[in-house]
Amino acid sequence: IMLFASCGKKEEGATKGEEKVVIKLSTKFVEDEQTAKSLKRVAEKILERSNGNIEIQVYPGGQLPIGKDSMEQVVSGANWISVDGLNFIGDYVPDFNAINGPMLYKNFDEYLAMTQSDLVKKLKAEAEKKQIKVLSLDYLFGFRSMLTDKEVKVPEDLNGVKVRVPTSQLYMYTLEAMGANPTPLPFTEVYSGIQQGVVDGLEGSLMTIYGTKIYEVRKQVSLTNHLLGVSAVSISKQVWEGLTEEQRTIIQEEFDAGAKYNNDVTVELEKEYKVKLEELGVKFNEVDLAAFNKETSKVFSKFPKWTPGIYDEIMSELEVIRSK
Ligand code: G3P
Repeated sequence: IMLFASCGKKEEGATKGEEKVVIKLSTKFVEDEQTAKSLKRVAEKILERSNGNIEIQVYPGGQLPIGKDSMEQVVSGANWISVDGLNFIGDYVPDFNAINGPMLYKNFDEYLAMTQSDLVKKLKAEAEKKQIKVLSLDYLFGFRSMLTDKEVKVPEDLNGVKVRVPTSQLYMYTLEAMGANPTPLPFTEVYSGIQQGVVDGLEGSLMTIYGTKIYEVRKQVSLTNHLLGVSAVSISKQVWEGLTEEQRTIIQEEFDAGAKYNNDVTVELEKEYKVKLEELGVKFNEVDLAAFNKETSKVFSKFPKWTPGIYDEIMSELEVIRSK
């Protein structure tokens, strides 16, 4: 893994006297998924706006280390940007998992308001102490639902069903609470995992189901909407501080604008995905949300490392958000 630490480099740039910055960006999302497209668009804008001075090389589909390994690159100070679940920052600052806990948000806007709160600003400051500069928490890819081979309506329907989850304790606890047997696997192994019977199904957003073509092996979506699919964009604090103020401004502003673009497009695309998936033979069914909600609420008391009272803090923040 350390192999990659030396890959990022500074070169003589387009502008005389200024060093060109080259940063690798690693993500699990495959080329066909909107998040990967949005990130490529951000990289193009940054290259253009910096007159070729800042080159962010986007590596989709897990070509480079992802998840925990990608975050290790960030923490170790490589020229590296990691785009992955909040839970991987949560490995360093556990409360990041809590703000992405199950069944918290009714829509994208509630979550996006939460990431602007003082509570989350505090968490970002904590992350900096661990050498992680969080550039964005706002790359959304949709609420996650069950994709299995049978209708799931109540938690009991998931008993004995092996469901692939990302390698994250939050997902393990959530799917366990929902009645399933969660099995952590990197996404790249899910398609063959289903074919070989390692897992019976998975949970994911419509973007994931459509974009990765995983619908080819499973056809029943049960709309649990249990977790919001969000990606965090992180860079090493040391690398960040080594950039000029102008470079930092360009990068930050373009990732912010890119998140907004990504989310607007995603809201529209989700409607299309549903229609397209139905055309491809995928069936959708509603579930007993209250029954699932009752089970998943237990997840918030399961984490020994979360700050005591974090759930109440989040809920009162949400109340403020909802009253606006
Ligand atoms: O390309 C995979 C992505 O859409 C979802 O990955 O690990 O969050 O389920 P994951």
